[in-house]
Amino acid sequence: MMGKVVNLGVFVADTAYRAPRQPKMGETILGRSFVLGPGGKGSNQSVASAMAGAETHFISRLGADAFADIAMATWKKAGVHPAVTQDPKSYTGAAYIFIEDATGNNAIIISPGAAADISNADIDANRALIEGAQVFITQLEQPIPVALHALQMAKAAGVTTILNPAPAASLPEGMLAFCDYVTPNESEAEALTGLPVTSVAEAETAARRLREMGAGAAIITLGDKGALFHDGARTVHIPPFKAGPVVETTGAGDAFNGGFAAALAEGQDPVEACRFGSATAGISVTRPGTAPSMPARAETLALLKG
Ligand code: RIB
Ligand code: NA
Repeated sequence: MMGKVVNLGVFVADTAYRAPRQPKMGETILGRSFVLGPGGKGSNQSVASAMAGAETHFISRLGADAFADIAMATWKKAGVHPAVTQDPKSYTGAAYIFIEDATGNNAIIISPGAAADISNADIDANRALIEGAQVFITQLEQPIPVALHALQMAKAAGVTTILNPAPAASLPEGMLAFCDYVTPNESEAEALTGLPVTSVAEAETAARRLREMGAGAAIITLGDKGALFHDGARTVHIPPFKAGPVVETTGAGDAFNGGFAAALAEGQDPVEACRFGSATAGISVTRPGTAPSMPARAETLALLKG
C-alpha cells in the first residue's frame, strides 16, 4: 500500500564551498570547489519520501527566481507534489555550507527567504491535504508557531505526526504532545532535554525524557552509531547500515526522516520503519549532495535484505 505523506518545511539552494578552513573576519581565501544543489530539510525529506514510494506533498513558499526553478525541477524529478506559493517580492531560500576539506565537517548558514513568511494561512489553505494524509512531518526551519499549528491540525484529524526538531531550537511548552514521533540527532536531543547525548545509553535516557515532555515516541539519530527508538513499551537500538565509503553526511538526517515517514505511511511497524529510514540514510551518505543523494525504494530494499 502506498501511503500519503505531507511535509511542511523549507527548500533552500545549497551552495557548498569546500575549503581548507573558514575565512577570518575581513579575510578572503581560495576555496577548493563549489557545488550548487537542492537542499533544505523539508524539501530533502520530501524527496527521500517520494523516492521511497510514498505519495508526498510539500507545503512551502519560494521566491520567483532561479533557485525556485531548481526547487521545481528537483520535485518534478523525484515525484514530489508541491503545495507551494511563490512570492516575487521575496527570494528563494539559500544555504551557505562550508565543508572543511580535511575532515568533511560542515558549518551552515540558512536564509529561508520567502519560507520565513510561511504562516498559519498556508496551513489552513492545505487543511484537506493534511487531514487526508497518513503521516504529517515538519522541521524547525520555518516559523515554529506554524509547525505547531500544523501538528495540532494533523493530530486532531488522527494523522500520525513526526517532528524532526532541526535545526536545534527550544520548543513552545507542550508542543511535543502533538508529536507521535520526535526525531532529534544527538545535539538536538541535548538542546531539547538538557541531558548529554554521547552514547546509546545516554540516548535512551534522553528518549525517556522526551516522552515525559509529551512525545509519543522518540527516535534519536546517532550518526555512525545508528539510532535509538523508544516508545514507552519498546527500546530498540537500530544499527547503522553500511552501503559503501562515506562521501558526504549532510542531509543524512533528512534521508532518515523521509524514509521513516514513507515506511510509516505505508503501514510498517515503527521499528521496521526506522530500519527503512536508517538504510535510506546509509545509502545517502555514500553520495554527494543532499536531495540528489536520496536512494530509490528498490535500492533501500536491497540494502535491507543484505
Ligand atoms: O539537513 C541538511 C540540510 O540542512 C541542507 O540541505 C541545508 O540546506 C540545511 O537546510
Ligand atoms: Na549525501
